[in-house]
Amino acid sequence: MAERAGRVEGKAAIVTGAGSTPGPGVGTGKAIAIALAREGASVLLVDLYPERAEETRAIIEAEGGKAQVFGGDVTRSADCAAMVAEAVSAFGTVDILVNNIGRATVGTVVDTTEEAWDQALAINLRTVFLACKHTVPVMIANGGGAILNVNSISALRGDGTIAYSAAKGGMLAMTTDMAYSHGRDGIRVNAVAPGHITTPMVLSVPGQGDDMVTRLRNEASLLGTPGTGWDVASAAVFLTSDDARWITGVTLPVDAGVLSVTPLLMAGRLRGVSDEKS
Ligand SMILES: NC(=O)c1ccc[n+]([C@@H]2O[C@H](COP(=O)([O-])OP(=O)(O)OC[C@H]3O[C@@H](n4cnc5c(N)ncnc54)[C@H](O)[C@@H]3O)[C@@H](O)[C@H]2O)c1
Repeated sequence: MAERAGRVEGKAAIVTGAGSTPGPGVGTGKAIAIALAREGASVLLVDLYPERAEETRAIIEAEGGKAQVFGGDVTRSADCAAMVAEAVSAFGTVDILVNNIGRATVGTVVDTTEEAWDQALAINLRTVFLACKHTVPVMIANGGGAILNVNSISALRGDGTIAYSAAKGGMLAMTTDMAYSHGRDGIRVNAVAPGHITTPMVLSVPGQGDDMVTRLRNEASLLGTPGTGWDVASAAVFLTSDDARWITGVTLPVDAGVLSVTPLLMAGRLRGVSDEKS
């Protein structure tokens, strides 16, 4: 039987934040990079801490895939220019860009400092702007491409992370605006919005690994099952592949239905979990 080609066979991809916060499980950037490589893409693994991206490279290469590490700070324009140049030099072009870097910080508009605000906007939004700014011209010259932004349900629901939510809201607007501006260049721009997934970054927050918190995170969704970086990666591969050739400007929740229910109807189920424990 003929072997089926991967869904992104022969494509050149950049994944920002392709390492993972140390700890159990897998980050979304790492999972997306591995999943793209499994489907045939060559992947430039970009991370501020190259040793984290090296772990991703080792996994990809052990599976027979192709990847290269680029250490750099994506909040810096010069690093983004070098990142794109490296991808073009290594793989010939850039067909896929995944903007995955991001980190939530808790705070209201009152207690968030100006410094924390600027930092959150830099990590969660400036990285997207700069990576796209340097990649889109290459995609235009190439006749097209696919951009995937890793957003969050925080852009769509209040959760007390004002700077992070504002940045992710900006990402939502960038997704539709770039889809408009570059549709006729053959560039599709989409996003995924993960819900309460369990990743090393989540587990690095004190208390998040506790049994009850884990159960509440799972039970808060309609499916009531745990989600991981791999669930985000499946959606990312679909949206960056030609299977999604007629989809652009979309932010797809990957949240087991968290956004599809009124909190009132979930309250009883969640109370059941916390009552059990007390
Ligand atoms: N984990 C969740 O529950 C959850 C939920 C919704 C959305 N998200 C989104 O998922 C994305 C990240 O997930 P992850 O699990 O891959 O995180 P992660 O922390 O495991 O990995 C992100 C990587 O980005 C790197 N990085 C940070 N700043 C950088 C910079 N300036 N330049 C280059 N690299 C940099 C870090 O070193 C890290 O290795 C974020 O956009 C986040 O908002 C996560």
